[in-house]
Amino acid sequence: MKTLVAFFSHAGENYFDGGYKNLKVGNAKVIADKVQKFTGADEFEIETIKKYPIGYKACCDEAMREKKSNELPELKIDLPTDEYDHIILVYPCWWGTMPQAVFSFLSLHNFSNKTISPICTHEGSGMGSSESDLKRVCSKSTITRGLAIQGSLAQTSDAAIKSWLKQNGLL
Ligand SMILES: Cc1cc2nc3c(=O)[nH]c(=O)nc-3n(C[C@H](O)[C@H](O)[C@H](O)COP(=O)(O)O)c2cc1C
Repeated sequence: MKTLVAFFSHAGENYFDGGYKNLKVGNAKVIADKVQKFTGADEFEIETIKKYPIGYKACCDEAMREKKSNELPELKIDLPTDEYDHIILVYPCWWGTMPQAVFSFLSLHNFSNKTISPICTHEGSGMGSSESDLKRVCSKSTITRGLAIQGSLAQTSDAAIKSWLKQNGLL
């Protein structure tokens, strides 16, 4: 079985532990890097050609505009994914679900008969509707129970990640 860790993450100003913090490395990237280290899987960053604003409010406004218009932002590079059987998808919760960039990534690939295990970083919404949205857009994939990690606890989440990886047969 071959596993891919695919992640989207936004560095810059973010809502963090009840306040705002300028993150040099986004929370979802912190988690994806840990998952990569624990599993030895390949890692791929989902990056858009356009840059999202660094400021929290401006980024939220842009994300809402994209969500409302169901825009699928163009990705910088794509990755052939045929060889992977299991995709660990890591992303921040944006407006209650996956960022539109993640929907872009999913729209470019056929993950039928493959397994997708989602991890969502958030500041209160947990997985939001991202698991049901994943089931809707990847209806022929097996979607396992997700793992929600509060972004401000990303650095100290090793035990939770390892336990979830074990439950999903990834460790
Ligand atoms: C555009 C945007 C929308 C967000 N929407 C939500 C939300 O609906 N629910 C929530 O709990 N957190 C929300 N957040 C907070 C992020 O999910 C959280 O800070 C996450 O850990 C960020 O991960 P990152 O640093 O990898 O981007 C939002 C953040 C941004 C930038």
